[in-house]
Amino acid sequence: MDQHVMLKADVLLEALPYIRQFYGQTIVIKYGGHAMKDESLKQAFAKCVVLLKYIGVNPVIVHGGGPQIGRMLEQLNIPCQFREGLRVTDDATMNVVEMVLAGKVNKEIVTQLNLAGGKAVGLSGKDGGTISCRKLELAVDRENLPPEIIDLGHVGEVTAIDPTLIRSLMRDGFIPVIAPVGVDEHGETYNINADTVASAVAGAVGARRFVLLTDVSGILDKAGELIASLDRKRAMELIGDGTIKGGMIPKVKCCIEAVDEGVGKAQIIDGRLPNSLLLELFTEEGIGTEIVGA
Ligand SMILES: Nc1ncnc2c1ncn2[C@@H]1O[C@H](COP(=O)(O)OP(=O)(O)OP(=O)(O)O)[C@@H](O)[C@H]1O
Ligand SMILES: [Mg+2]
Repeated sequence: MDQHVMLKADVLLEALPYIRQFYGQTIVIKYGGHAMKDESLKQAFAKCVVLLKYIGVNPVIVHGGGPQIGRMLEQLNIPCQFREGLRVTDDATMNVVEMVLAGKVNKEIVTQLNLAGGKAVGLSGKDGGTISCRKLELAVDRENLPPEIIDLGHVGEVTAIDPTLIRSLMRDGFIPVIAPVGVDEHGETYNINADTVASAVAGAVGARRFVLLTDVSGILDKAGELIASLDRKRAMELIGDGTIKGGMIPKVKCCIEAVDEGVGKAQIIDGRLPNSLLLELFTEEGIGTEIVGA
């Protein structure tokens, strides 16, 4: 028998302990807009997710779309501004955010998953009342001064997740794909950072794992070296001294929250690496940065 073929059987058997571990479990995957680099990466991602489904794992996707929103705003000559890694969202920006996220990006992911042989359903936080939110009051600490309250416009924070729709989709074999847009009690629409939505969803569905795909190899230290494991105290120090900044701030904070809420493990991995999801879930070594609670 060809050696190459024999090796394939070994590889499949090596995955057995992990398949057993995750069988019947829910895994929430934050698919960063920055990880959607090109068509082949998107296809590889879709295949990994569909494979998970077919081996009995329940993947739930929450996606971002920062670069895609940025490109559309540019085309429309609407200026972009970020504070603490969050997009300042006025009325015009909110319209674009919702159209791009819940329309274009969401349906693209659904299409890729379906082409890979899955049955994906796209929803925004509005569907089934899945995400309830309120306007985010962002307070930024300043040395020797009272905290500054920043008005980010239509940027929301999750107040509750109703997992009923997500659960019924999973039960019927569908892969839920969620755009991070929600409404408050007055019907006002909000743009919510996708990391924080994913984290709240992971808590609400009792996910075994929370995996975040982004465009870096994980969390990097001051010297640019990958940090394999990070706890709350060290994370806060690295945010405080500016090593962790921009879009990595909400990511790290929400991983800590997810772990606090009982999600087995939160991992930030490189979405630019083809099949990174499988490498993380089905190999001993894993990749990227693991966030632990204590
Ligand atoms: N210490 C750090 N280590 C690694 N990346 C960092 C660090 N500090 C800041 N970053 C930035 O965080 C970015 C990832 O967050 P970003 O919000 O840009 O992407 P995303 O969340 O994957 O995509 P999206 O926001 O579209 O969903 C990296 O590209 C990097 O520039
Ligand atoms: Mg981000």
